[in-house]
Amino acid sequence: MRKHYTHEGLVEEQLAPEPIGQFTRWFHEADDAGVVEPNAMVLSTADAEGRPSSRTVLLKGYDARGFVFFTNYGSRKGSELAANPHAALLFPWIALARQVIVQGPVEKVGRDETAAYFRTRPHGSQLGAWASEQSSPVSGREVLEQRYAELERRYPEGEGVPVPPFWGGYRVVPESVEFWQGRENRLHDRLRYLADPAAPAGWRVERLCP
Ligand SMILES: Cc1cc2nc3c(=O)[nH]c(=O)nc-3n(C[C@H](O)[C@H](O)[C@H](O)COP(=O)(O)O)c2cc1C
Repeated sequence: MRKHYTHEGLVEEQLAPEPIGQFTRWFHEADDAGVVEPNAMVLSTADAEGRPSSRTVLLKGYDARGFVFFTNYGSRKGSELAANPHAALLFPWIALARQVIVQGPVEKVGRDETAAYFRTRPHGSQLGAWASEQSSPVSGREVLEQRYAELERRYPEGEGVPVPPFWGGYRVVPESVEFWQGRENRLHDRLRYLADPAAPAGWRVERLCP
């Protein structure tokens, strides 16, 4: 399973002045290279005692304010974020020998932003959000299917589905963003942006040993 990385390097001179610009370049390159769901990212949270947990979620938007995903606020990740509003995101673009790691505090997005996104979801996914008490034990699949069928009767296709009050978006506000590029002989490139109000674009960059 040992793989030799012969990819082009990542050099300071070619980096975008701020991490969102750099992320945009790499995100498009991952998409162009055929990475399956390049917006899939591993979200890590920790409970009040610092015990970590991870799961995959989909990136649904990003800009200078941060990285947005949508979920159930009552889920395990939701309870952990309520107790400890900090997270890490990891984009595993293995086919390109790349990963991006974002760390920072997390805030809920506004209800308007959640509602606007919810309306773009297919009808079935809207009902699914209502049907699932995410992360709670359920006695069997049939319970979920029955709930879904009841919701379908109540909100047939074409009927507006209200946004569940327990469902919405989170924004991870980046404080640090690391770009990792696999290179030959394990001399990988790791360039990390750190938020720094005193730096020119609001960010300074440091190189880390691989
Ligand atoms: C490719 C992929 C994408 C996923 N996207 C989401 C998502 O955007 N939001 C979400 O709540 N769960 C998503 N999930 C499910 C989560 O990984 C997880 O099972 C769920 O959110 C419950 O996590 P928790 O119990 O740790 O809170 C996705 C799973 C996979 C494999």
